[in-house]
Amino acid sequence: MNVAVIGIGRIGLPLALTIATRGHHVTGCDIDTHLVQRITRAENPLPDEPGLDELLARTIAQGTFRATTDTQAGVASADVVLFAVRVDVDAEGRADLTHLLAAAETVAHALKPGALCIFDTTLPVGTTRRILAPRLQAGGRRLGHDLHVAFSPERLYMGRVLSDLTRYPKIVGGVDPEGGRLAAQFYRQTFGGEVIQLSSAEAAELSKLAEGAYRDLNIALANELAMVADVHGLDIAEIIRAANSQPYSHIHIPGTGVGGHCIPVYPRFLMQGEGPSALSALGRAINDSMPAYVVRRLAALLGGLQNKRVLILGLTFRPDIAVTYHTNAVDLLRELQALGAHVQGHDPLLSPEGIASLGFQIAPEPLAGYHAAIVHSYHRSYTHLDWARLAPIVVDARNALDRTTIEAAGVRYLGVGRPPTPQPHPNP
Ligand SMILES: NC(=O)c1ccc[n+]([C@@H]2O[C@H](COP(=O)([O-])OP(=O)(O)OC[C@H]3O[C@@H](n4cnc5c(N)ncnc54)[C@H](O)[C@@H]3O)[C@@H](O)[C@H]2O)c1
Repeated sequence: MNVAVIGIGRIGLPLALTIATRGHHVTGCDIDTHLVQRITRAENPLPDEPGLDELLARTIAQGTFRATTDTQAGVASADVVLFAVRVDVDAEGRADLTHLLAAAETVAHALKPGALCIFDTTLPVGTTRRILAPRLQAGGRRLGHDLHVAFSPERLYMGRVLSDLTRYPKIVGGVDPEGGRLAAQFYRQTFGGEVIQLSSAEAAELSKLAEGAYRDLNIALANELAMVADVHGLDIAEIIRAANSQPYSHIHIPGTGVGGHCIPVYPRFLMQGEGPSALSALGRAINDSMPAYVVRRLAALLGGLQNKRVLILGLTFRPDIAVTYHTNAVDLLRELQALGAHVQGHDPLLSPEGIASLGFQIAPEPLAGYHAAIVHSYHRSYTHLDWARLAPIVVDARNALDRTTIEAAGVRYLGVGRPPTPQPHPNP
């Protein structure tokens, strides 16, 4: 089969290359000329995705994959068109469909008769049927006759996208019944794994939002429990470990909020849709309040933050992934500055321009002499840090550090819902 993947970014490229190894000819279409040129030269734009280097080189060499900026030419011979163009939220917290609509409009005028279009991007319920399918029909194809449309969300974790593609069941739901059936058949034949076909595109859309909302709310619960633990001087880590020893409890890890363009975004898709969303809104509010909460705790330990030098380590939204969408490092920066701190940022995964674009002053090497250091994303390379030289207090923003290592270096530790190391008494 000929397959076109529209949007060959973090999700679309691994998806396209994997399909190209399963007996299909794949064209990856993107508006980013520089990206398409790099991919065409077999230069991997995602070095933090294991296995992608080899897969890109192999599929380009074999001619089973090619990249282009000419989407209409790429789509013209495609039996299946997958959309992996990103949808984020706008300033009002509503889904911003601008790029996806543009992609659908371009594709609509090039679709061959009988083509199957599958939207992989997470969407508010009803978007595929009410907004996207009509755009595709604008090119003259008729839904259910010579055009079939389905929704099938990606359930992938950055940093292991290739292995995740075949790890979890693929969920599909059709806008037209034939669209659902054809999409299920395509994924079953291509990936060979389990496919769960739901009764409609809307059901598949809501299933993806349910996964995201569950995780956001679960983290909000962990954060609320962490704040209760702080009130009582308890350690939330041992409490969650104990609670989760019962098989019905799956409490996540507390921290300074939730970053990335998935988990903090999907509850907002529920909040803008029809139906109740009070819990989603509450979870968002709790998680969004965490950077200020953690900064207040640090301020209490340091006797205020006015003119204090604070270093934030790891500015990406997750460890070892060079992605900064909705990173809470930026929220920590804002809260620290509001209390008068002088803040610097450090991240070995980002360029100096990348760090500056987040609003940070770049921390000069060697990293030393701060009043406090906050570990936001605990990258692998940070395991070798000289904690004692860094600062007398280290804040573990994601409860990811081993506090005994920090304390053994003579440094005070503060976690989220974890008591600070007591102030050492001066020698009598
Ligand atoms: N990244 C994740 O971890 C993840 C996990 C699960 C699901 N998803 C879903 O995948 C979607 C895509 O995420 P991503 O991380 O791959 O985004 P991304 O920004 O890395 O990639 C999107 C690509 O689409 C391209 N694009 C934009 N407009 C276009 C157009 N009109 N025509 C062709 N290409 C166009 C961009 O240039 C970019 O290369 C997300 O919105 C999300 O719903 C992402």
